[in-house]
Amino acid sequence: MEIGIRILIVFLVSQVVHIGAQKEGEEGCVPGFQVKEYQVEYNGGFQKDHPLTQVFFDDCAGNEGLAFEVSHPDFQVDEEMNLVARRDVMDSGTVMFIHGVNEQADDMAQVDIVGAPPRSPQTLREILGLGQIQPYRSKRALFAPRMHVNENMEPPFPKVIGTVMSPGMENDHIFHMTGSGADQDPKGVFTINRVTGEVSVSQELDREAISSYTLEVSVTDLSGKLVEGPVALLVDVNDQNDNRPIFKETRYAGEVLEGSPTGTVVMTMTAEDADDPRLQNAVLRYNIVRQSPDKPSPNMFYINPESGNIVTVISPTLLDRETLPTTQYELEIVAQDMKGRDVGLTGTATATITITDKNDHAPEFTHSLFQANVDEGSTGVAVNLTVDDRDDPATGAWRAIYSIINGDPTQNFEIQTNPDNNEGMLSVVKPLDYESVVFHTLLIKVENEDPLVPDVGYGSSSTATVHITVLDVNEGPVFFPDPLQVTKMENIPLGSFVALLNATDPDVLQSQSIRFAVLRDPANWLSVNPVRGTVNTSANLDRESPYVHDNKYTAIFMATDNGSRPASGTGTLVIHLEDYNDNAPYVHPSVVRVCEDTKDSVVIVGGRDRDIHPNAGPFKIELGKQPGLEKTWKVSRVNNTHAQIMLLQSMKRANYQLPLVVTDSGLPPLSNSTEIKVQVCTCKKNRMDCSSAGSVCSNLMMLLALVLLSLFCEYTVSLVLLSLFCEYTVSSPAHPIL
Ligand SMILES: *[C@@H]1O[C@H](CO)[C@@H](O)[C@H](O)[C@H]1NC(C)=O
Ligand SMILES: *[C@@H]1O[C@H](CO)[C@@H](O)[C@H](O)[C@H]1NC(C)=O
Ligand SMILES: *[C@@H]1O[C@H](CO)[C@@H](O)[C@H](O)[C@H]1NC(C)=O
Ligand SMILES: *[C@@H]1O[C@H](CO)[C@@H](O)[C@H](O)[C@H]1NC(C)=O
Ligand SMILES: *[C@@H]1O[C@H](CO)[C@@H](O)[C@H](O)[C@H]1NC(C)=O
Ligand SMILES: *[C@@H]1O[C@H](CO)[C@@H](O)[C@H](O)[C@H]1NC(C)=O
Repeated sequence: MEIGIRILIVFLVSQVVHIGAQKEGEEGCVPGFQVKEYQVEYNGGFQKDHPLTQVFFDDCAGNEGLAFEVSHPDFQVDEEMNLVARRDVMDSGTVMFIHGVNEQADDMAQVDIVGAPPRSPQTLREILGLGQIQPYRSKRALFAPRMHVNENMEPPFPKVIGTVMSPGMENDHIFHMTGSGADQDPKGVFTINRVTGEVSVSQELDREAISSYTLEVSVTDLSGKLVEGPVALLVDVNDQNDNRPIFKETRYAGEVLEGSPTGTVVMTMTAEDADDPRLQNAVLRYNIVRQSPDKPSPNMFYINPESGNIVTVISPTLLDRETLPTTQYELEIVAQDMKGRDVGLTGTATATITITDKNDHAPEFTHSLFQANVDEGSTGVAVNLTVDDRDDPATGAWRAIYSIINGDPTQNFEIQTNPDNNEGMLSVVKPLDYESVVFHTLLIKVENEDPLVPDVGYGSSSTATVHITVLDVNEGPVFFPDPLQVTKMENIPLGSFVALLNATDPDVLQSQSIRFAVLRDPANWLSVNPVRGTVNTSANLDRESPYVHDNKYTAIFMATDNGSRPASGTGTLVIHLEDYNDNAPYVHPSVVRVCEDTKDSVVIVGGRDRDIHPNAGPFKIELGKQPGLEKTWKVSRVNNTHAQIMLLQSMKRANYQLPLVVTDSGLPPLSNSTEIKVQVCTCKKNRMDCSSAGSVCSNLMMLLALVLLSLFCEYTVSLVLLSLFCEYTVSSPAHPIL
């Protein structure tokens, strides 16, 4: 008796209550117990080997490897699915559970023993007191068996999923349930019958949202005083295959090099399934259901059902980008759960596989001979060389590189690749000359940017010959020498011969005449004989002209031939001008200042000349020829170019014009009778005051001078002073003319 009760308790603690039916499955067949609840009458006990009832279990697949477990150890389910006692049993308890399981199904059924003696709470409590069932033990032996609920159950709700038992339950005791799923969010998923302890689920559950609940159950008296517990109540949500496999993307791209060996991995496609990963509900298998296009074979690729690796199946020789109907294949990949069985749910995605290029084709010229005519003297593209290459135009396996391997010793030609069409643009980079070579024969080679694959080479079609014919063009005459340099005296007479222009026409194979013309003659000094090319002066050459730089005058001439379309050339004439003494010297500066007291009254002036040596310095600088000047002024040589001017006697503050004669050293010399302005100033302590010269040069001053003159000098002296006349602007209208 005691043993029997203990077994019951053990069972109760581990009981699994299944409620609800699987939604999905084969038509008309739900794997598991076909009847979930059985009733057996208790008539004082059960005899050994006597069948209590037959159970109905079907996994819908032949019940292979099916095994049953009965919660009461003295009972078993035999081969005919009869529940039988292993020995004579008196104490069966009032309920038993049968667990049936194999590869395909896993289900429970309940057997109620009607009329069996009620369990003795006394004994139950004692047994529990032994403390064998650790996780659910409590002081007062409140039992909360682990419960299981299928997700996605159909209404009606609530549905009882199990019972919490309290052996010491009295009439004024009530059950309470707390925790997430009861009084906490999500609230009210589970309820407990306050009196019987039956736990019910009140709504459809989703394992993928919450896969298990942990609640607490306790017993209180009516006043709310805790009598037993709390103990933990675990409710597991059983998975149903309600999620299909999902590929993250709808399209995946992969590529494989043409000629790759069979079995080359192209890409991997994997999907996810939200169902319980421990069950087949989430065990996926992959399959290729469609290949497009299906040429040259419908099974060019294979997908590993478990790993999702896509590999090549087609032989490397057929996997040839240049002969395949397309370079892109599409595969429709299906992932199916339930290990790929038909009942499984599916998800689909597309794999796009690009066959990429290898340089397995050499470029080949479309012709073995190309021809072009080129004008002499010109540059630019002469001919476009065309090639074929069957490789991928986007790659270096297609792009061509051209080179000239013979026939261009003077590097007149160059070949650039046209990036648009891969053509070789053969250009003349250094102009050709009809008069020297009329025909050119070039040997051309073409290669790819990328090296060819080892078993392919460049053949004879990768070289070609180009014939270039140079066409005669009327070329302009060429001056020699250019520039032409001559040396001329600047004073040569008008119409003098300057130079003979020498221009020859390069078109030596034609008879052509040449005419000359002036193209640029900035000072308009020159004329040219159009036939003979003699250049004469048409104006006076002047070395001191602003058009002459560094003694050189530059003019440009043009020579034009009489070809049917006349051509012309230009040449430069540089005339080096020699100096002639054609400029008189002058004195610099033209304004000087002296102090009114005679001592320290010295200034320095210099001679200047626009001519150059020997027609410039040394200069002779002397006082002008007016008689008597030397009484007041003294001019003496300082060196070859300069002279000093000294005031010999005190003068009133005023501006004076001092006549000077300056002579250069040319042959013949030139001299200039000129004047400089001398300001006589008041000098005090490093300051010079020249401002009031005007007032000083007044009537008073003139008067004084006249008085002085009349007193001390004769008329001749006064004549000397005459030359020291005041500047017109400052002197009064009373000009000192006597
Ligand atoms: C060569 O090709 C280029 C680009 O297509 C074109 O502009 C050019 O006129 C062609 N030259 C010759 C000589 O055909
Ligand atoms: C004229 O030019 C030619 C070359 O074009 C040259 O051979 C010849 O010596 C030149 N004559 C003179 C007089 O410079
Ligand atoms: C140019 O000078 C030469 C030599 O003096 C002379 O024979 C010729 O007639 C002159 N030409 C002109 C157009 O003056
Ligand atoms: C150019 O001049 C030369 C020499 O006078 C003559 O022989 C030739 O026919 C002329 N050419 C033309 C195109 O007029
Ligand atoms: C003499 O020199 C003056 C400047 O001092 C100058 O303006 C003048 O042109 C010169 N006379 C001659 C004939 O060169
Ligand atoms: C001549 O004397 C002046 C003034 O002293 C000076 O500036 C100049 O350099 C001298 N010239 C020569 C050639 O010594």
